[in-house]
Amino acid sequence: MKVLVIGPGGREHAIVRSLLADPNVSEVHAAPGNAGISKLVPTHPIDANDPDAVAALATKLTVDLVVVGPEAPLAAGVSDAVRAAGIPVFGPSKAAAQLEASKAFAKEVMAEAGVPTAMARVASNAEEAADALDTFGAPYVVKDDGLAAGKGVVVTNNRDEALAHAQTCFDAGGTVVIEEFLDGPEVSVFVLCDGLNTVALSPAQDFKRIFDNDEGPNTGGMGAYTPLEWAPEGLVQEVIDRVAQPTVNQMAHRGTPFVGVLFVGLALTSRGTRVIEFNVRFGDPETQAVLARLKTPLGGLLMAAAKGELDKVQPLRWSKETAVAVVVAAENYPDTPRTGDRIRGLKKVESIEGVHVIHAGTKLDDEGKVVSAGGRVLAVVALGADLVEARERAYDGVELVQLDGGQFRTDIGGKAARGEIKVQTPGAPAASKAKA
Ligand code: AMP
Ligand code: GLY
Repeated sequence: MKVLVIGPGGREHAIVRSLLADPNVSEVHAAPGNAGISKLVPTHPIDANDPDAVAALATKLTVDLVVVGPEAPLAAGVSDAVRAAGIPVFGPSKAAAQLEASKAFAKEVMAEAGVPTAMARVASNAEEAADALDTFGAPYVVKDDGLAAGKGVVVTNNRDEALAHAQTCFDAGGTVVIEEFLDGPEVSVFVLCDGLNTVALSPAQDFKRIFDNDEGPNTGGMGAYTPLEWAPEGLVQEVIDRVAQPTVNQMAHRGTPFVGVLFVGLALTSRGTRVIEFNVRFGDPETQAVLARLKTPLGGLLMAAAKGELDKVQPLRWSKETAVAVVVAAENYPDTPRTGDRIRGLKKVESIEGVHVIHAGTKLDDEGKVVSAGGRVLAVVALGADLVEARERAYDGVELVQLDGGQFRTDIGGKAARGEIKVQTPGAPAASKAKA
């Protein structure tokens, strides 16, 4: 099987790496790729967001499957163009990608499908925003109603700050979704969908804020680990039964079947499991950790989803090890990052047992040296017997990465490794009340 992977980031590097380990995959191409991907497979310098360009490349390469990584090409209709060219594609149509591209659309489908999520209101001016903020109270959650790479959401106790974010979105011609605040730990579950059937991958946890202890602004994600030893038993089945399958059914019912990966972002709140958001592609950097543990060959799995054959897939096989991914970001990320800096030490990083490097914002300069080219530059991914060992290996690796101004969080998987994550199940008294 010949596969073309679309996208430039860490998620795509991880996908390419896993595809190359699939015995039934004979050839992999990537477009546009990055410095890490170009060391593994041929890359093609096309505009990944141009549906015609992607369909033409897939046709020219005579690939059997196209895998679309990021949300922007999906929202631009890349999958539709490839499908129209008669090539199977892993990735939803432009219409189905609205589940991520519009938060208001996602809320509408969740309401129709009976999916548990935060109460929300759409606001299109300052007055409506103020009214919605006061209805739900603090902490305030204000979301730009469009693609914002995880950075369009402000969660704050400061009402003025919440209003100011809403105003920025209105000034840019947009609307906002204002929500009730969801407490409790967050979980990312990736569910493969073929339009009808669903298969869930092992849950992961992502770290959204730039600084340790979840401080500072939101980013695309600064690290991840999987599996989640602390997650309630039955969580994955609950996500399938109450979230993914009803959503897939509803999308089919609407005439816009969902094919690809439905990324369910959840909060395990004291009132039960709630969907925070849907994305229509694999999470980055969760994918770097999740695929490191997946033993079932990835190419066959993605092809089954693309062809409507997920019901024929055997139960997935996973490594018993734990995986941790720690992102190294450029100076000034998530604001405009500094780029063009040499990255050194990666060979040494990969000499550590169980450790590999996944490139995200990197490119080769004129001399063929690896330099930074984006906000999140790379991730050090480590497998270990347990979370403690995987973290040790990942951070030993991170210490060896040489990048001027590079920044990383030191607490990826830290709370879980110390057994400090508690899920408060509905009906159970809060810990403090239980003591009284
Ligand atoms: P989103 O882009 O919707 O995933 O939001 C980005 C991040 O903001 C999430 O991962 C959460 O950490 C936080 N967030 C979003 N919605 C809520 C909510 N209703 N309550 C609490 N935190 C939220
Ligand atoms: N890591 C979260 C995301 O990919 O949106």
